[in-house]
Amino acid sequence: VRISGAKNASLPDVCAALLTDKSVVLTNVPEVRDIRTMGRLLADMGAQVEFRVGGTVEIKAANLTSVEAPYDLVKTMRASVLVLGPLVARAGKARVSLPGGCAIGDRPINLHLQALEKMGARIRVEAGYVEAAVERLRGTEIYFDTVTVTGTENVMMAATLAEGETVIRNAAQEPEIPDLADLLVKMGARIQGAGGPTIRVEGVDALQGAEHSGDPRPHRDGDLHRGLRHRGWRHRDPELPARAPEGRPRQAARDRHTASRRGPNNLRVRAPRTLKASDVTTIPYPGFPTDMQAQYMTVMTQAAGTTAITESIFENRYMHVAELQRMGANIRIDGRTAIVVGHTPLWGAQVMATDLRASASLVLAGLAAKGETIVDRIYHLDRGYYRIDEKLRGLGADIERITEKGLADRRSKVRVSEAAPAAEPE
Ligand code: EPZ
Repeated sequence: VRISGAKNASLPDVCAALLTDKSVVLTNVPEVRDIRTMGRLLADMGAQVEFRVGGTVEIKAANLTSVEAPYDLVKTMRASVLVLGPLVARAGKARVSLPGGCAIGDRPINLHLQALEKMGARIRVEAGYVEAAVERLRGTEIYFDTVTVTGTENVMMAATLAEGETVIRNAAQEPEIPDLADLLVKMGARIQGAGGPTIRVEGVDALQGAEHSGDPRPHRDGDLHRGLRHRGWRHRDPELPARAPEGRPRQAARDRHTASRRGPNNLRVRAPRTLKASDVTTIPYPGFPTDMQAQYMTVMTQAAGTTAITESIFENRYMHVAELQRMGANIRIDGRTAIVVGHTPLWGAQVMATDLRASASLVLAGLAAKGETIVDRIYHLDRGYYRIDEKLRGLGADIERITEKGLADRRSKVRVSEAAPAAEPE
């Protein structure tokens, strides 16, 4: 199965194109809804955005006619906030709607705003919009008291055109951060330390165009592993620090790797007959990612033993639990911890997706359940997973997309039946 590029790596890469008047060409971009939405946002600002077949996007933001990200677009995609840093750095101003909450939490952007203010931007929040203005941003030291992925990305992009050096401390270390830095450096930025807890950016006067390929990321690998009834295993990035960066508990090491790299770009996965329950707490990278929590919960319903899953990043990321319980899962929520009792047989049912990763967890549950599962509102799935039904079908899953005549896009569904028992590993 071919793993697509990662939505959360390509979204900041698309926004980075606002930092230059030259052409930026991105390849291996997942052709998912959120990427199209971001492309539309940039086009509304006057950028030329061309989507080509096969996941290539060319963006040329030579003459920006607007610096506004309107509410009706931002409310559908919180990641729109990623235009804020580039616009303030490139155009000296921006008017971006506050993202508002979403299904998994209230999603504030105060850390983004505090950082830009410290870099000299005048920030005003009025009528649900952030207005930012500055002659030229000044480099300074930014300390994020909460690790924020898009906050790190926004400040790193803004700092590339600031006067002097910016040091970002307690930076997010998700793989999409060094990926974004790779693109910015190709554009002429001066960045050190991306992927670690401290990033240094020396501002320059202008950036050039570039070509860049976003790589698949553990989340992509992770989602498909679990499709193979795979234990909660994260492949070790070769560059993963040997020990946890300061101040972060190391995620309990997996007792046995059941996947092995067979080359720089591919991975072979085989699952043991019996899955072993293994507690996790979601923490910033390199800990267990919150974006894999829902999928992992489904897998642990099939493991032998009881698993404690603690969601430490978002306050409301258990909406998939009620749907899994309707399929027979034995899960109890105790504060921020879900207690999952396995091995519990699941039964097919009609269920409803509530957010992107929850929809993936329901598809996986459908693969493990007896009988047929209908997952409703899979526009959530299409925001971040490129043709996951085709990929899983290629792995033997009985899954099809139902687009009843005239069915409004919001009501699109996918039908999943129990996967054939996995063949005994050779
Ligand atoms: C990014 O969201 C991802 N989105 C999320 O993926 C992911 O779940 C999240 O990082 C955590 O890994 C994109 O990259 C587009 P945060 P982001 O800022 O940057 C608090 C998906 O499914 N916080 O790292 O918005 C915040 O409330 C999405 O693809 C502040 O308090 O998340 C949260 O508790 C869902 N103030 C914590 O920090 C701020 O200014 C981490 O949030 C910013 C964040």
